[in-house]
Amino acid sequence: MRSHWMPAAPGDRLQDVDTPALILDLDRFENNLERMRKAAAGFNVRLRPHAKSHKCVEIARRQMAAGAVGICCQKVGEAEVFLARDFADVLITNEVIGERKMHRLAQLAWRFPQARIGVCVDNADAARRLGAICAAQDSRLDVYVDLDVGQNRSGVATAAEAVEVARAVVACPRFTFMGIHAYAGSAQHRRGVPERRAAVEAAARKAAEVRAALRAADLPCEVITGGGTGTFIYEAESQIFSEIQPGSYALMDVDYARNEHDASAPKFEHALFILATVMSKRGDRATLDAGLKAFSTDSGLPAPTFTGWQVWSVSDEHTVLHRIGDGPSIKLGDKELLVPGHCDPTVNLHDWIVAVRKGKVEAVWPVDARGTVF
Ligand SMILES: Cc1ncc(COP(=O)(O)O)c(C=O)c1O
Repeated sequence: MRSHWMPAAPGDRLQDVDTPALILDLDRFENNLERMRKAAAGFNVRLRPHAKSHKCVEIARRQMAAGAVGICCQKVGEAEVFLARDFADVLITNEVIGERKMHRLAQLAWRFPQARIGVCVDNADAARRLGAICAAQDSRLDVYVDLDVGQNRSGVATAAEAVEVARAVVACPRFTFMGIHAYAGSAQHRRGVPERRAAVEAAARKAAEVRAALRAADLPCEVITGGGTGTFIYEAESQIFSEIQPGSYALMDVDYARNEHDASAPKFEHALFILATVMSKRGDRATLDAGLKAFSTDSGLPAPTFTGWQVWSVSDEHTVLHRIGDGPSIKLGDKELLVPGHCDPTVNLHDWIVAVRKGKVEAVWPVDARGTVF
């Protein structure tokens, strides 16, 4: 259950926010949205940001105001949250497998008949089953064939498989076959620019080849969607992708900051932070009140925004810092900002996002789809 205690109220100073708290720097966040809006418009590609990164209705609304045509979700539960809050175009960039979940999706589409709801498939039998459930439920879905473009996670591997799955899709009267979902997930954090560019060029070639095979089989393929923060510029440049779906760009994290920046792409700023309090101090050791339950470490440790101290160890509710060199002194009760290693799983640990501008709290937004793991 969401705590009724909020870490802050509008008008508070950053230093008065209770901790651990998730902080969004609004100036930086707005810059990130504007840079992405401009980039997508410049390439004439549709922008469909991924809401899995923030799970927050208010953030998604601002993305819509900044040029998005709709949003992506990864889970049926996430889509439920956004559809219930008037989002009219939601693509689930994932396969939905299992009777219970398929019924839930079909019901969702029935509840929101005016909305466009998309889903991915990579198996003909699964497509037929979902189609039958939608027919029984009297609901409609947009359906995309998921194509594996190097991640080895999901998706059909070949053009022949894509044609087989797409045929099953068009045979379901409740489905509209939209095209190809081709997300190059493993390319997003390749550090070098040439590696990322080459990975997307290969993905675009494969998507083009599959589109040609679909068209040759009389299966119209209107949309090719994919791309994340690390590569969207290459998908946009390719002229093959009609839509991009970056998520992290709005918030950013340590892992993305490790990518070599491509001068032809917009640069995104760290807008997301963890605010933590120094809850114990002994000599050159300072302990913060935020640990693994306040940020994820799957992509590495959080980075202090202050110099002279480094993260020494992290446990459930604590982060121990050690002094290195002549950093500024830290005292008991100080509040410090850290950049999370990976934004998506970090946000999912919090009930609230504290939106701050120039050191003052402007708003506190719920992480509406927090915990929607299925
Ligand atoms: C299918 C899909 N699309 C888009 C994204 C957004 O990627 P990023 O947050 O790296 O921009 C993800 C993230 O994992 C994803 O799984």
